[in-house]
Amino acid sequence: MTGPASPRAATVPAGTPAAAAVSLRDVHREFRRPRTSLRHDPAVVHAVRGVSLDIAAGERVGIVGESGSGKTTLLRLLCGLDTPTSGEVYVQGRPVHDQPARRLRWLRRELQLVFQDPMGSLDPRMRVGQIVAEPLVAQRIGSRAERRARVTELLERVGLPAEAADRYPHQFSGGQRQRISIARALAPRPHVLVGDEPVSALDVSVRAQVLNLVDEVVDGYGLTLVLVSHDLSVVRHVCDRVAVMRQGELVEVAPTEQLYRDPQHPYTRELLASVPHLADALGSHPPDMERSQPDE
Ligand SMILES: Nc1ncnc2c1ncn2[C@@H]1O[C@H](COP(=O)(O)OP(=O)(O)O)[C@@H](O)[C@H]1O
Ligand SMILES: [Mg+2]
Repeated sequence: MTGPASPRAATVPAGTPAAAAVSLRDVHREFRRPRTSLRHDPAVVHAVRGVSLDIAAGERVGIVGESGSGKTTLLRLLCGLDTPTSGEVYVQGRPVHDQPARRLRWLRRELQLVFQDPMGSLDPRMRVGQIVAEPLVAQRIGSRAERRARVTELLERVGLPAEAADRYPHQFSGGQRQRISIARALAPRPHVLVGDEPVSALDVSVRAQVLNLVDEVVDGYGLTLVLVSHDLSVVRHVCDRVAVMRQGELVEVAPTEQLYRDPQHPYTRELLASVPHLADALGSHPPDMERSQPDE
């Protein structure tokens, strides 16, 4: 692993970001809205305010908070899709915050994303086999035959038949499309998997199956997981630690069971009181007790 190379990294306590899989240091992101009147300053949305968080290799961290609290903005900064107004972001000890996109090719290999809306993130004109192989093609990993073998292996891993490779996204259910997204994310063998509300668009019963799959692959490949959800019951079943985000700030970070047992911040209590009943769909077993089955 390469240590932080940027001069700014020298101000960070020695070794700390390198030891963490993900490290956020006092990260801010402000958006300026266009000026609507000459008499008023342009509105500034402070979407992320001073977030600091270290995530250890192999740890599973959930980020929860209501809509508009800054979760997606934080993930985009983590994935190098956006640049912080100030602060530092490291993945596997390497700086992300001050790098132009062309210098972040390594990041696509280390970290992969699964989005909420599988239809929006899967190209409808591409066959599933091409979709899953896309990160491998983009990063020139493997020969054509090796990629084809890897696609078969990945489809099997996520509970889809090998023939799925020749079909198109619209031929699958929502849950199956999210399995395809997971297979694609796993293709370049990333160390960090990031999900932005990956099960929020799915029916409750399917949600549990896809969450179980996430749990299995994170476990099986020893991945670090950053899982964003507005729904506390989703992160409860797969995360070791939960960070509660409110209006751009992390108001509480605690081990999952502790957070549920003894929430410290009033906002966490409020969120817990409004948890929907996903727990019923998941049953009382931890997810690794239930092998995930193909949906529907
Ligand atoms: N590109 C942008 N331009 C202006 N405002 C934005 C932009 N992206 C996000 N925001 C604002 O930042 C805040 C946080 O948004 P977001 O990160 O999407 O929250 P969440 O994912 O928790 O729902 C919201 O007020 C949103 O309107
Ligand atoms: Mg969001």
